[in-house]
Amino acid sequence: MLAVATMVAGAGAMAAVGEGKGAQPLPGVSDPRQAHIDYMLKCQGCHRPDGTGSAESAPPLRNMVARFLGVEGGRSFIARVPGVAMTDLDDRRLAQLLNWALYRFDPDHMSPAFQPFTAEEIARLRAQPLRLERIEVRERLLARMEQEQAPGK
Ligand code: HEC
Repeated sequence: MLAVATMVAGAGAMAAVGEGKGAQPLPGVSDPRQAHIDYMLKCQGCHRPDGTGSAESAPPLRNMVARFLGVEGGRSFIARVPGVAMTDLDDRRLAQLLNWALYRFDPDHMSPAFQPFTAEEIARLRAQPLRLERIEVRERLLARMEQEQAPGK
């Protein structure tokens, strides 16, 4: 019961972006409510309802996740991490969920030139999920971000 109450309260608090009447449509997100429900069911246990993550479970998506799109190799990385690639959603819903999460949690780092993930791209990327090498790949991408996206550059 408590879990349900928390989920419903969370849904209300997050209804502002890409959901409800008058919301701006998000590119690559045809059903933002479905995307939000999928996030609640498949992702927020680790990444937290507000995308802030926690030291024990998962890194933050908030103010962070779209920065991966700006470095070489980052786009495929975010589709190939196990939490994404191996989730129990079909390619179309996973593409929508990833697009939604990018706009929902990190709008400030989204480029107007962003090409939304499609079901076809997701199918190709998730067929090669990252395994243990993901730690190293992630560190390399973060280092590249530090170099290339430093304030003032
Ligand atoms: C079991 C916990 C867990 C679940 C569930 C999970 N993730 Fe993650 N996620 C992680 C961890 C840990 C990482 C860091 C990379 C790694 O080690 O896999 C990560 C990395 C990511 C990244 C790359 C960003 C970064 O900083 O590494 C994205 C994007 C992401 N997750 C999105 C999602 C989405 C979307 C879902 C739901 C479909 C999801 N995750 C489900 C734990 C989880």
